[in-house]
Amino acid sequence: MDLSPYLNKVFRADCLDFLVKLPDSCIDCILIDPPYCSGGVKSLNAHNTNTTAKYGTDRSIAYYDFVGDGKDQRVWGLWMQSVFRQFERVLKNNSFFFSEQEV
Ligand SMILES: C[S@@+](CC[C@H](N)C(=O)[O-])C[C@H]1O[C@@H](n2cnc3c(N)ncnc32)[C@H](O)[C@@H]1O
Repeated sequence: MDLSPYLNKVFRADCLDFLVKLPDSCIDCILIDPPYCSGGVKSLNAHNTNTTAKYGTDRSIAYYDFVGDGKDQRVWGLWMQSVFRQFERVLKNNSFFFSEQEV
């Protein structure tokens, strides 16, 4: 597969939709900051309030809202497993992986 159309570009896409189109072992480095879904323990959208209310300590500072942060624990876990399966597939041997993740 010719990967030149992907080089030095930024794409805005659902990560799974994007990753499944890539061939095996073609990526040198992955850096992620996925939705944390903090507080979504019991049911879908249990903690689906706005980002400022959820993460802000100083409510006078507004944070941008972002999609995908209202999953419950099980949905989040399954989704991340699917994403990580793709990461494992597309990363080359001796490649790099960095993640920001609130636990
Ligand atoms: C914790 S925020 C990252 C914020 C970013 N580091 C910043 O400083 O602006 C999580 C990001 O994941 C994005 N996101 C949520 N679901 C996604 C998906 N299925 N595929 C790709 N990105 C997704 C959200 O739009 C959001 O920008």
